[in-house]
Amino acid sequence: MPTAAAPATRASADSSPSPAIEAVDLTKRYGDFTAVDGITFSVTRGEAFGLLGPNGAGKSTTMRMIAAVAARTSGQMNVAGLDPEVEGPRVRARLGVIPQQDNLDEELTVRENIIMYGRYFGLPRRYLLAKADELLDFAQLSHKASARVEDLSGGMKRRLTIARALVNEPEILLLDEPTTGLDPQARHVLWDRLFRLKESGTTLVLTTHHMDEAEQLCDRLVVVDHGTIMAEGSPAGLIREHSTREVLELRFGMDRNAELAEHLEKILGDDDAAGFSHIEVLPDRLLVYAGQAETALERIHAAGLKPMTSLVRRSSLEDVFLRLTGRSLID
Ligand SMILES: Nc1ncnc2c1ncn2[C@@H]1O[C@H](COP(=O)(O)OP(=O)(O)OP(=O)(O)O)[C@@H](O)[C@H]1O
Ligand SMILES: [Mg+2]
Repeated sequence: MPTAAAPATRASADSSPSPAIEAVDLTKRYGDFTAVDGITFSVTRGEAFGLLGPNGAGKSTTMRMIAAVAARTSGQMNVAGLDPEVEGPRVRARLGVIPQQDNLDEELTVRENIIMYGRYFGLPRRYLLAKADELLDFAQLSHKASARVEDLSGGMKRRLTIARALVNEPEILLLDEPTTGLDPQARHVLWDRLFRLKESGTTLVLTTHHMDEAEQLCDRLVVVDHGTIMAEGSPAGLIREHSTREVLELRFGMDRNAELAEHLEKILGDDDAAGFSHIEVLPDRLLVYAGQAETALERIHAAGLKPMTSLVRRSSLEDVFLRLTGRSLID
């Protein structure tokens, strides 16, 4: 059972070599449809671990199995040393869960939402009164403490859901698309808060479609698609392994992009200085993967080609996803 002394418990847990979460061949089927298809991963205590993938990849289904709210079809799972299917309540007591859809009690006030949630964990009222103030401050919602939830903006509801999930001082925090619906400033504040939680020893597991979020927050992540893991590593490691350092984005006009790709491959293929790797043809632009994108652009200009626009940028996890699946992360 969580208590106000949870951080001390966590410190002793840190010395244990057992992982925070371990999934082996985890599978979830809905009838004939396989939503999660035999995935294996392990999350170290204190780590920030991400599930990155497009709509329908199986991210939320995986999170629900970790959170002991969905049963697995097959495979093994261990969360904080326990099997969520056998010891659901004990697992839930050690988790903070931020579901994809906010499930706040709209009738209650902001403050009461936190207190009521804490009561489910059997936490004492005196502890909860102080904790609610601390969490409202954390979520920048102190000025809304007495407002009814139905009167909050979408982003405020999201922040309250996150604050509420921290009431039991969880050792593992599950965040399913935590920043969806937040404005850029609120996202940055939340990243900062999550970073602080991680520094204090909380294990973070998050899903996102936002590559910048994954790059900012995750020590390690898995790229998931159609219920399977396509790749695993640190954001920088994945980019190194599956992409070039830089990317040159070119637009020649809708009907000319594909036709020019082959031509560009010939121009750049013979040139070591640009560190050319390959080209991806998107409907609206060409992505030229090269270690030195400026040099590639110079060669293209020297060959007499004049793109309508050109942009040199660093490779991102989006490029990794495109390379692995041939599709874009966000449809
Ligand atoms: N209760 C259910 N019954 C039947 N199919 C389901 C159910 N829940 C999820 N699915 C299916 O499982 C697949 C994975 O869904 P899931 O919600 O895990 O995806 P996701 O990666 O979280 O996607 P998103 O980014 O859109 O949130 C989808 O094809 C979805 O339709
Ligand atoms: Mg989801």
